Amino acid sequence: MAMLAVENLHVSYGHVHALKGITFELKEGEILALLGANGAGKSTTLRAISGLVAPRAGRILFAGKDLGKVPAHEIVRMGVAHAPEGRRVFATLTVEENLILGGYSRGRDRKGLEETRRQVYELFPRLYERRRQLAGTLSGGEQQMLSIGRALMAAPRLLLLDEPSLGLAPLLVREIFQTIKEINARGVTILLVEQNARAALRLAHRGVVLEAGRMVLAGSARELLGDERVKKAYLGEK
Ligand SMILES: Nc1ncnc2c1ncn2[C@@H]1O[C@H](COP(=O)(O)OP(=O)(O)OP(=O)(O)O)[C@@H](O)[C@H]1O
Ligand SMILES: [Mg+2]
Repeated sequence: MAMLAVENLHVSYGHVHALKGITFELKEGEILALLGANGAGKSTTLRAISGLVAPRAGRILFAGKDLGKVPAHEIVRMGVAHAPEGRRVFATLTVEENLILGGYSRGRDRKGLEETRRQVYELFPRLYERRRQLAGTLSGGEQQMLSIGRALMAAPRLLLLDEPSLGLAPLLVREIFQTIKEINARGVTILLVEQNARAALRLAHRGVVLEAGRMVLAGSARELLGDERVKKAYLGEK
């Protein structure tokens, strides 16, 4: 059984038909790259999976369970965590308080939460150094790390990452991709939205390309890296 199955998903915002029937699966342990131009519907796909927007049609199954009527906080509890685009951290709370909030869905599992926090600090030593600093005073890259760290605090089986490398300096981009690889190696399945298509496809097992709310290509990362259309449109090659 697929860990995640998205079937003929449609999402509308008022008159804007943002997703027009997309279908894909994610197997346990995989990294799937979700690629596409601005406005293609990538963030909308993640929002629909985590229950932040309601599908107009279609189904989303997580571990075989239909998420249709499941509220967002319950989806987190089931094992799906979302690090949204744009570094949404709680600016007036410290790094550590942000992480503690990320583990909210796990209730009183104090031991487990402490262990996860230790792992997050191990993945992001810089967050450990700055654990008492207000999140609003972190650099953009550090806020990005905190946003991912906070999602990991929910101990997800499936992690939805929305443009984790956005706005980062090249050295930090490499670091973030390395960390994503490490998170995956620790057993977390990942749906990765990225503008940086080349880096994403080097990391991912498979990829899906959206154009204006429709799926135009899907295949193994290797196939997509070699695909002429992908090269032209997303990899900046002639
Ligand atoms: N709250 C909203 N209200 C109305 N339209 C919206 C809303 N959110 C997104 N849209 C529209 O839905 C479409 C898909 O948006 P989405 O944010 O999913 O794109 P994206 O692929 O994540 O783009 P980007 O790469 O710029 O982040 C766009 O045309 C966008 O303008
Ligand atoms: Mg987006």
